[in-house]
Amino acid sequence: MQKNDIKNLIIKLTDELNYHADLYFNYDKSEISDRDYDEKLKKLQELEQKYPEFKMQNSPTFRVGGEILSGFNSVKHEIKLLSLDNTYSKEDLIEWENKLQRIVNDKISYFCEYKLDGLSVALTYENGVFVKGATRGNGINGEDVTENLKTVRTIPLKLKKDIDIIVRGEIIMKRSVFDKINSIEKIFANPRNAAAGSLRQLNPKIVSERKLDFMPYDILKTDIDFKLHSQEYKFLSELGFKPENNAKKISNISEIIPFIEETENKRDSLDYDIDGIVIKVEEKYLWDELGFTNKAPRFAVAYKLKARQEITILKAVTLQVGRTGIITPVAELEPVNIGGVVVSRATLHNFEEIKRLGVKIGDKIFVERAGDVIPKITAVVSSSEDLFAGIIKEPKLCPVCLSLLKREEVFLKCVNSECPAKNLRKIQHFVSKAALDIEYLGEKTVEMLVSTGKIKSFSDIFKLNKNDFENIEGWKEKSVNNLIESINEKKNTSLSRVLYGLGIEGVGEFIARLITAKYTNIDEIITASSEDLENINGIGKIVSKNIVLYFNNSKNLEEIENLKKYINIIEEEKNINSLFSGLNIVITGSSDKYKRSELEGFIKKIGSTPQKSTGKSTDLLIYGEKAGSKLKKAQELGIKTISIDDFIEQGNFK
Ligand code: IVH
Repeated sequence: MQKNDIKNLIIKLTDELNYHADLYFNYDKSEISDRDYDEKLKKLQELEQKYPEFKMQNSPTFRVGGEILSGFNSVKHEIKLLSLDNTYSKEDLIEWENKLQRIVNDKISYFCEYKLDGLSVALTYENGVFVKGATRGNGINGEDVTENLKTVRTIPLKLKKDIDIIVRGEIIMKRSVFDKINSIEKIFANPRNAAAGSLRQLNPKIVSERKLDFMPYDILKTDIDFKLHSQEYKFLSELGFKPENNAKKISNISEIIPFIEETENKRDSLDYDIDGIVIKVEEKYLWDELGFTNKAPRFAVAYKLKARQEITILKAVTLQVGRTGIITPVAELEPVNIGGVVVSRATLHNFEEIKRLGVKIGDKIFVERAGDVIPKITAVVSSSEDLFAGIIKEPKLCPVCLSLLKREEVFLKCVNSECPAKNLRKIQHFVSKAALDIEYLGEKTVEMLVSTGKIKSFSDIFKLNKNDFENIEGWKEKSVNNLIESINEKKNTSLSRVLYGLGIEGVGEFIARLITAKYTNIDEIITASSEDLENINGIGKIVSKNIVLYFNNSKNLEEIENLKKYINIIEEEKNINSLFSGLNIVITGSSDKYKRSELEGFIKKIGSTPQKSTGKSTDLLIYGEKAGSKLKKAQELGIKTISIDDFIEQGNFK
């Protein structure tokens, strides 16, 4: 082959591979098999090795990582990478705004961005080509991590415009990636540590496997004169970057409160960690005039969201027996305040998890609390220096009934059907919110009633009377009346609540509703065969077998007969026959008529599944106002879309 032909072949392979990578990563589509892609990539790699002079600056081979590095060189930042002052309350923000208004007379508006919890880097492009990337370091000097950054697929190797520019942004690891990586490999405490640890890897091939991401938020240097920060933010997308897409313009600080609330609500459903909001003065031409405090600019400030993770000490591990017999090791902690809530217990999930974490009693650990989720231990910070620090041993016997435990995958299980701990949990589940929802019958009360022998089974609840509470501390006439009344209120309960309340393994609220959409009374379910049950869309072999086994047990049947004497199990409202039943549905955008949770409720009610993000399995996307990239992506993927209003009208919800 002539040299020129080789050059052309390299260009062709580069373009082709970049095209397919773009389709795959940005549009979830593929027009070529993985094998063909790998073959072409290998071919390109071989050619580039032989003819390095022809290697393109946007070669996809950069993405898979090259030579192992011996270390990172220190680099001086052309423009200092400043940090931000923190604020913690609305009052702090108003004070900040007042200070700004004392300095400048112009009307100030703001651009609010999520504060991404990763690590800051500066990327230098010359003539549109990525030439250098450095960590923030101390803001003046950082480390040259260019080769590692080239593996980050959301960092364009070549911009869509041939300009000189320095872009600042955050390297993050998406939660979904973190969960996958952390389950098989070494333990990182959180996605931020994983991102930082990965970026400082000396082997760029490993960095490539860590699937890091980059989100830009600032232009440090350019010839273009942007009047507004939002224009700059938008320009970053035009260059080929993927900025975080929840940023919002507000016209004064009082509008920040709804944005903070919205952010708190969205926080758990994002695929990346955020630890605050960055509020920037939108009028970029005022930035210089506003000046600096000792270490930070005045034009921006960080509003910190409540912490999710703190460090504390593991004091002991106790064992909890669940409703299905699964033994959960529970961490007893030195109490610690996490974002305003004192946490003194956390789950350790199972004994495999204890091994994976390598945690011992006495260790300093990270504990995380997010939303309503039970706090969990995410990593060991440092091991106890005490030589006698406790190794946590796997139990052999159930801590309550002392029967031999059985191993089921990663779990240890008490299989004794008479285990008192399991029975207690079953009753607590039966009265819980999603099941019979008996107000005033909380877990502690059930525990008291079970331990004093007043209730042994579900039906015993309905036999309770005032005398049962005589001489029981803390139970005055009023509270007893409240409880008896709330029990009476549940004497008419829907079939799906009862079915869910029975606590059959694998029968969650959703599955219960799928079953009651087909069967109208409990006797039909009792006599259903496993084939009948499996025929229901969404119910698998294991669950249907569990159901049949449950109703083959004479004790269970006897209990249901007893229950029927006290409660009237009412037929389910049927609206599963919606045009949109049995689908995977994504919601995007907003509606002033329906809340997000309400729409999700409708979706579940018709036997469909709400999904968080659009992917291959998505059947339908419903969109409201201000629907953004998700709608575009769905349309590109050929997924059916419908407006929220049409969805309600055509969905037979009424
Ligand atoms: S702007 C001078 N915007 O927060 C202003 N920073 O304490 C430069 N961060 O080191 C920063 N998300 O790592 C800015 N949307 C965002 C951000 C953000 C995260 C980080 C960044 C910086 C730290 C400031």
